Amino acid sequence: MTANYPVTRPRRLRKTQALRRLVAQVDVRPSSLVLPLFVKEGIGEAQPVPSMPGVMQHTRDSLRKAAAEAVDAGIGGLILFGVPAVKDGRGSAADDPRGIVQLALADLAAEVGHDTVLMADLCLDEYTDHGHCGVLTPSGEVDNDATLERYAAIAVAQAAAGAHVVAPSGMMDGQVAAIRASLDSAGFGDVAICAYSAKYASAFYGPFRDAAECAPQFGDRSSYQQDPAAAKDALREVLLDIDEGADIVMIKPALGYLDVIASVAAAVQLPVAAYQVSGEFAMVEAAAANGWLDRDRVIMETLTAIRRAGADIILTYWAAEVARRLVTG
Ligand code: PBG
Repeated sequence: MTANYPVTRPRRLRKTQALRRLVAQVDVRPSSLVLPLFVKEGIGEAQPVPSMPGVMQHTRDSLRKAAAEAVDAGIGGLILFGVPAVKDGRGSAADDPRGIVQLALADLAAEVGHDTVLMADLCLDEYTDHGHCGVLTPSGEVDNDATLERYAAIAVAQAAAGAHVVAPSGMMDGQVAAIRASLDSAGFGDVAICAYSAKYASAFYGPFRDAAECAPQFGDRSSYQQDPAAAKDALREVLLDIDEGADIVMIKPALGYLDVIASVAAAVQLPVAAYQVSGEFAMVEAAAANGWLDRDRVIMETLTAIRRAGADIILTYWAAEVARRLVTG
């Protein structure tokens, strides 16, 4: 025995799969995964999204099927995004009771509403002809307070259609308070708000903008989404949203923002969600398609990292696939 013989040997607990499993602190559970789904008005059959292999823009029928399969696989929830046939300056289709998202939400409420959590993304960018997340002033700026009125109306339309949770993603100041007030006064006091609280102006949303057809037609979203370099903004936004009545707070994107997830998880006593966004998904899929990464292992590693950082809930395009794999092994 040498003087340098290590007394403490962490490797002891890594020796077998059984030992590693016993001492693991972090797991990925199907029930904490939420699957984003897209429904598009006016298409005859589901269409693939080229930059997101395996992800579809659904018809109402194919959406119902995809949702039922995902719920069957054991996922915790679904979040729905709509692509309307007609867009205008105020995003009229977003709160139209006959709009595509409301119709699809009602379909899903009937199909899987008792077995899963139905979430609706609440924003305007998919519905406006200019692609911004709010209505514009005459000079082309996003008008915060005029947008809040639109969000308040959309929340009620989504709740009436059957959403259990609305998820405002537009990063307007005061959006959670405006939505909470309008839900409460319309009799939807039990509809929860999952606030996209710390949402960064990220280039990782690129593929999503194909899927939701919502790229801004001019400018970008930096005047309302957070600057990745503004580290202190995250907790400030989260605490404001909690104050305004958020039930769940979300950080987005996930993998590049694990520090933010960890600091929020340490600071708040609410469920914390993280959105593994389209670019995070596309990056892995593209590398795997080239044979450069072990796809399935990388997927689990990213989800484990997001959980380890402190996310209780993860929105991921791999939700159904991973849930199925976790259940069937
Ligand atoms: C806005 C919204 C976006 C995403 C979710 N909600 C796009 C954006 O902010 O530009 C991105 C999700 C993803 O990239 O997977 N309604």
